[in-house]
Amino acid sequence: MNNTSPTVIDIIAGARPNFMKIAPIIRALDERKVAGGRLRYRLIHTGQHYDSRMSADFFEQLDIPMPDINLDVGSGTQAEQTAAIMTRYERLLLDHPSSLCLVVGDVTSTMACAIAAQKLRVPVAHVEAGIRSGDWGMPEEINRMVTDSITNWFFTTSETANDNLRRAGVEDDRLFFVGNTMIDTLLAHMDRLRPPPFWDEYGLLPGSYFVVTLHRPSNVDAGSSFARLLRAIGEGTRSLPTIFPVHPRTRKTLEAIEDLPANLVFVEPQPYLEFNYLVRHAKAVITDSGGITEETTVMGVPCMTLRDTTERPETVSIGTNEILGTNPANLSRALDRLFAGGWKKGGIPELWDGRTGERIVAALEELFPS
Ligand code: UD1
Repeated sequence: MNNTSPTVIDIIAGARPNFMKIAPIIRALDERKVAGGRLRYRLIHTGQHYDSRMSADFFEQLDIPMPDINLDVGSGTQAEQTAAIMTRYERLLLDHPSSLCLVVGDVTSTMACAIAAQKLRVPVAHVEAGIRSGDWGMPEEINRMVTDSITNWFFTTSETANDNLRRAGVEDDRLFFVGNTMIDTLLAHMDRLRPPPFWDEYGLLPGSYFVVTLHRPSNVDAGSSFARLLRAIGEGTRSLPTIFPVHPRTRKTLEAIEDLPANLVFVEPQPYLEFNYLVRHAKAVITDSGGITEETTVMGVPCMTLRDTTERPETVSIGTNEILGTNPANLSRALDRLFAGGWKKGGIPELWDGRTGERIVAALEELFPS
């Protein structure tokens, strides 16, 4: 790096949950550039998610610039996707080097790009580092562990993440407790959230419907257990409309299930503004996502997580989330409690204040004082 050329950061995004995490970092970098900052970036889309409903819609709504490079890897097994991303990103770095590889979250693209970069001695920064579910059955947990084991600088969302990293031997000068970029995006767009076109068609009223999202292999890949869960949701929600935006991997199993509960409304994956409008006004959300538990916490909406673990314990200890496992009986009891008015109110975790993108860029400017 010489003193006159700007520092170029690769910002990696591959799958839907990445897009809301990169948007505030890009915005902060753009603002600093206008103010004379010297950091530059190259936006790289790996192509892990490629449907417009899983990708392009988010770029448009969140005002993210078109990617500079698309690695176009598409679908595949975990190893196929990892290998394709590594091979293509390595080629890019060899042809056009960069100063830093910045990855976010826990998807396959995150891990694959971190490995390819670090092997070429390009340092890695990880946003949302240090969170752990302890469940090695989830590919995301492997992605988190591998990524953090070769990360130079860690940007974290919680003290729990800081503790996890310190226990793994990370020194404090590589650790930046900055807050949550996903919440930056939510707060920045709260006033623009808007109802989806089917709002009136299904007679949705604030506080009188549910939102469900399920896409984890452990919940949706086996038809019989998925059907049992859906029946429990249908019964427990007491005939209230229950909107279920269907992830592509869920659709495959769903098509084979007969006798779906009548109050479940299956819709396409929703764009960001419409999805979070639905969440904001729902009676409760039933999900196996991690990111959504953070959004419900900030919006104060009751959230029931159908998993055995969470990598985001603050959404339970501080927020509105409860971990119910995948036994339908637990869900029924939780829904009874909700209808009886017994759900906790919750609070907002430290530094989830809408300014995390700025804090990350300020830290990067100190790390790269070109
Ligand atoms: C990935 C992430 C997960 C995240 C989820 C959000 C990993 C390991 N998992 O899981 O953390 O919560 O995204 O969506 O990275 N497909 C399409 N169109 C698309 C993308 C995928 O039809 O645009 C299909 C694929 O062909 C495949 C299935 O959906 O059959 C799963 O996609 P994949 O990206 O492999 O993993 P997700 O389950 O989406």
